[in-house]
Parts: sequence; C-alpha cells; structure tokens
Amino acid sequence: MPRAPCDHGGMSLEECPFCRRAATWREDERLLHAAARCECGAVGVWFGIPADADEGAVDLLAALGLEGAALPEPQPVGTSGMLTALYIDPDRLTGRLESHLHALGYRLALARGQNESRSGESWAYWALTGGGALIETPRLVLRELDEGDAPAVHAWESDPEVMRYQSLDVATLDDTLAYIWRVRLDAAQRPRMIHVLGAVRRDDGLLIGRVGLRVSRPEHREGELWFAFRRDVWGQGYGPEAAGAILDLAFGSLGLHRVHGDCDPRNARSARLMEKLGMQREAHLRESWWLKGEWCDSWIYAVLDREWSSRSRRSRERQSR
Ligand SMILES: CC(C)(COP(=O)(O)OP(=O)(O)OC[C@H]1O[C@@H](n2cnc3c(N)ncnc32)[C@H](O)[C@@H]1OP(=O)(O)O)[C@@H](O)C(=O)NCCC(=O)NCCS
Repeated sequence: MPRAPCDHGGMSLEECPFCRRAATWREDERLLHAAARCECGAVGVWFGIPADADEGAVDLLAALGLEGAALPEPQPVGTSGMLTALYIDPDRLTGRLESHLHALGYRLALARGQNESRSGESWAYWALTGGGALIETPRLVLRELDEGDAPAVHAWESDPEVMRYQSLDVATLDDTLAYIWRVRLDAAQRPRMIHVLGAVRRDDGLLIGRVGLRVSRPEHREGELWFAFRRDVWGQGYGPEAAGAILDLAFGSLGLHRVHGDCDPRNARSARLMEKLGMQREAHLRESWWLKGEWCDSWIYAVLDREWSSRSRRSRERQSR
C-alpha cells in the first residue's frame, strides 16, 4: 500500500465548507495523513503530494479506493454521509492529477487553508466518498471506518479476550491500520460485497465495535455476518442491536435470501447473540478451523429473509401495542 508523505505542516481550515461550522482538526503522526472531523459528519483527509509524484498520487487515490468509485457531486450532507477532502498545494496540482480528480467527482471548494510550512495557500477538493453508509439504531450509529478511528478500533483488535475466537490474531497498531485500509478498499468496490461498519454509541460518540456482512454467494443471495465489540461494553445488548441492523441491510436493500454466521461452540456470547436474533443453529462442524495453535469446532447459524421479516413484523406489532 503506498504511503503518502505527510507534508502539511500546520494546515488550518476556518470552517467546514458544508455546514459552515468550525471543523475540528486532529493530527496523528502514526496515521497516513491528517484527518479533520466536523460535527456534521464531514471527514476531511489531507495529503501532501510531492510535485514529482504524479503517478504516485494517482496510485494513492487508487489505494484509497477513490479511483473509479461512483462519487456523487459534492454537496452538503447534514448528518448522513462521509466526506473526503484532498488538500493540495496549487503548485503541486499537475494537469494530469487535476483532470483525474475531476473525473473522480472532486471539485475545488475553497482556497482558504494556509500551509504554514510553505507560507502559501493550499487548495481543497471535497467530495463524498463512495458508500458513506450510516445506519441508526436506538443507541448506535453504524458508519464507515476511517484511519482516524485506528486508536478506537485498536482498543478491541489488540485485546486477546476479544480476539480469542476470531480468525484474526491480536493486532499491532500497524495491523489495525492495514485492516482499516482493507475495509475502506472493500467499501469502495462496485458492486460492494463487504460491508464492515463501526458501531458508535450515540450517548458519548465512542466507537465501541464493528459488524460485518459479506455477500458470500451472490448467485444464491447468501451473506455472512460477523461482529466484535470492546470488552467493557459486553453484556449490554450492543452486539445484537448492531447485528440486527446489519441483517436489516442484508434482507432490505441488499436483497439477500439467507445470512449465516459461525462461532466456536465455546464462544457462548457469540452463539447467544445469534440465537437472540432468531438465527437457527444448523450445523456443528468438527475441527473446521486451525486457529491460534489448535483445531476449533464451528457452529453454523443462519436466518432466512422470510424469517427475518416475520420477526421484524412481530416486533413492530409488539411496539405498537
Ligand atoms: C459476541 C459479542 C459481539 C456479543 O456482544 P454483546 O453486546 O456482549 O451481546 P449481549 O449483550 O447480547 O450479551 C451476550 C449474551 O450472551 C450471554 N452469555 C452467554 N454466555 C456468557 C458468559 N459466559 N458470560 C457472560 N454472558 C454470557 C449473555 O447473558 C447475553 O445474553 P442475554 O442477554 O440473554 O443475557 C461480544 O461478546 C464480543 O465482541 N465478543 C468478542 C468477539 C467475538 O467473539 N466475536 C464473534 C466471533 S464468532
């Protein structure tokens, strides 16, 4: 994965070009680039692109999953959607890169950012990134992950208890960053086959876990579900709440017929989560995974679209009583 040189030297942006409020800027040397967040949901990403790196910049966009992504026109997004900004020094904006950015749907939005290290003006390009999924549940918002989330994601990816029964190993921070990049690349694929969303607690804005859905056999309209949450929130029903929203997505706009998930029979919380969602245990596979130095059994759970819709209908009826 190409890494962008971080040559921003103290950029400041007075206001978000979308909601016109002050954007909060955060920088982290460990991250690929600086990230800016605004209360309206806008996410700004700032890259330093060397003057002689035209090809590299194009590769960088491809690595970001922006190349070829179906990008709508830039527009204000309120609370739904995710924005990406590219800040580029005017003298680094070669004709080829500019036409590439335009082809991707980026439009020059403002030229107000100051690049102090160069005592010059930077230009900002803003656009919606592909996807921008945002799902709201009573206590959570499910949204796309970005590199600014790395420290929060790392809180659970590095916890041996959380990773105990997962196919991924306990992560280093670099592993977590690489994971987020993979997730972003998957999100930009068209058609999108893998949906990994971060679960943000609405109360305090803390990113507490992730849920994933992969369209595993499109020709049979089948998907696979997975989930992981930080340990200090276990047992409060966040897992089933987020996974239920992913099943709504699977059987709603994605039109799937069947969704399955699997877990180690020793992972009682995971099994219980799937049972609470009405998934049925269909199989016990013996020693089907070699994980963390041992053969592990696997329970397969699944739910069908008609089962999910009658369950959703029943729950709506209960609520209206
Ligand atoms: C699996 C996971 C997402 C569950 O999320 P959660 O938000 O804690 O889910 P819940 O709040 O519904 O709690 C889990 C349920 O398991 C039950 N449970 C089963 N065995 C349990 C045990 N040994 N200890 C405590 N609770 C247990 C709880 O009682 C609860 O059910 P209940 O509401 O009927 O009482 C979470 O535990 C997790 O992130 N685990 C690590 C990652 C993982 O293993 N992912 C799955 C890979 S297959």
